[in-house]
Amino acid sequence: MATNAGTTIDPRYTKVAIWLHWLIGLAVIVNIGLAMLTEDMPREAHRAAMGVHKALGMAILALTLLRILWRLTHKAPPLPAGMRGWERWTSRLVHFLFYALLILLPLSGWVWMSAADRPIDFFGLFTFPSIVAPSKAVADVLHDRHETLGLLMLGLVLFHVLAALKHQLVDGDRLFARMNPF
Ligand code: HEM
Ligand code: HEM
Repeated sequence: MATNAGTTIDPRYTKVAIWLHWLIGLAVIVNIGLAMLTEDMPREAHRAAMGVHKALGMAILALTLLRILWRLTHKAPPLPAGMRGWERWTSRLVHFLFYALLILLPLSGWVWMSAADRPIDFFGLFTFPSIVAPSKAVADVLHDRHETLGLLMLGLVLFHVLAALKHQLVDGDRLFARMNPF
């Protein structure tokens, strides 16, 4: 423990939680980029990018299940004492929505690909089983849902990064240090 401008600096998340945060965070950013920035590329390049997108998305699902298990068994460090009530509630809500999206987004992709009868290859190692029967109607709905959830995730990431910067640069409460792996 130390102090900064009269604010107590709280201990960090566990190493496992910190590394899972950055691993999943990086994968999410890469996955949004792969989907949104390769759309206008030649067909083969886009198809290759989507192969990585799908496999990485399934890895995010597995890592998130692990992360939630870890989170339920290891308490998060208390928030900086100076944080206002609405900030605590907002951060709780945003983090909860993150966990929900980290499950629902890949799951919607998995159901979509199952309904479209397009098996998901995991980096050439194995193929995921289908979880619903083929159906064009189901595939169309899930396609739509996946895109909506993807945009929601992008919005949440932007909000989250701005909040982290605000804490670091405006409040100076060193919230960021709690997630610093080094
Ligand atoms: C890109 C995808 C990202 C996702 C899905 C994500 C998700 C999360 C979640 C769920 C938490 C809450 C941890 C918990 O208490 O269980 C968290 C905390 C945190 N994240 Fe991220 N994050 C992402 C990117 C980033 C980036 C780019 C930054 C830095 C600019 C960042 C900085 C932080 C910090 C400082 C905390 C600790 C906040 C606190 O102690 O309450 N995150 N993140
Ligand atoms: C957390 C993981 C994931 C994230 C953040 C994510 C995000 C996105 C985003 C932002 C888009 C673009 C939506 C748009 O164009 O408006 C997209 C499209 C897509 N996603 Fe995902 N996704 C994830 C996981 C998955 C998984 C697991 C699958 C399938 C197994 C999948 C399959 C697809 C497909 C096929 C597209 C359509 C791309 C195209 O237009 O050709 N995604 N995803």
